[in-house]
Amino acid sequence: MKIDILTIFPEYFSSPLAHGIIRRAIEAGLVQITPWDLREFTHDRHRTTDDRPYGGGEGMVMVPGPIFEALEHLGVDEAGTTSSKVIYLSPRGRPFSQEMAVQLVQHEHLVILCGRYEGVDQRIIDHLVDLEISIGDYVLSGGEPAAMVVVDAVVRLIPGALGCESSAEHDSFSNGLLEHPHYTRPRDFRGWKVPEPLLSGDHKRIEEWRRRESLRITLERRPDLLATAVLSTEDLRILDELRDSKGHDSTDREQE
Ligand SMILES: C[S@@+](CC[C@H](N)C(=O)[O-])C[C@H]1O[C@@H](n2cnc3c(N)ncnc32)[C@H](O)[C@@H]1O
Repeated sequence: MKIDILTIFPEYFSSPLAHGIIRRAIEAGLVQITPWDLREFTHDRHRTTDDRPYGGGEGMVMVPGPIFEALEHLGVDEAGTTSSKVIYLSPRGRPFSQEMAVQLVQHEHLVILCGRYEGVDQRIIDHLVDLEISIGDYVLSGGEPAAMVVVDAVVRLIPGALGCESSAEHDSFSNGLLEHPHYTRPRDFRGWKVPEPLLSGDHKRIEEWRRRESLRITLERRPDLLATAVLSTEDLRILDELRDSKGHDSTDREQE
């Protein structure tokens, strides 16, 4: 997989790409990630990448020229005409999710455009961008941190990127639920004990405990997820029990 990042701050990515799972995936040749300096695609003495907005108002807008030329250099044409997927990070984009990360990892080539100032000239978005992604309902100073969020979530899904120490299959959201809690040694840390089922050595009991905890945490924190999660009859029974014990209102699924 190839990921190209268009930015005016390429050095921003030096550290996040040099650690952990992402670094290992790069070293193993599973992904090639290149931050491109948009200023390299300017032609004036000041290497200008922004200008004042037509119509007036506060702030600057990123000019289309350097972005167009960078995309051209990467072999990207009008949106939808090449196999590359061009993403623009923007608070106006579709909310990023695990489901989107799963879709994005299917692409051989992603190009991620990081905005600064008030954002990029709309004509770039209209003609060259395939997908606008927001990482949340807040405004960042630039697309770079958002690009790293997307890159991280996608790269860990590349087959072989996670070592055997970890698995994406059981992560939160992968089965529509939040994940159960984790514990490690020591068994007793300052009087705080590891839940007994996890010490039992009984795999069925451990799985049952984890599933129940996953359901409990999802019910408490993200009950909206239960409406679309794949749930067994046993899961539904556990949820009823959890609602009764906590005095939860009967929600979502029952109202459907
Ligand atoms: C200061 S913001 C521009 C905000 C824009 N004027 C607006 O109100 O929608 C500068 C850049 O940061 C990035 N950005 C800011 N918030 C973001 C978010 N929640 N998700 C993704 N990218 C974001 C975008 O690339 C944006 O072009």
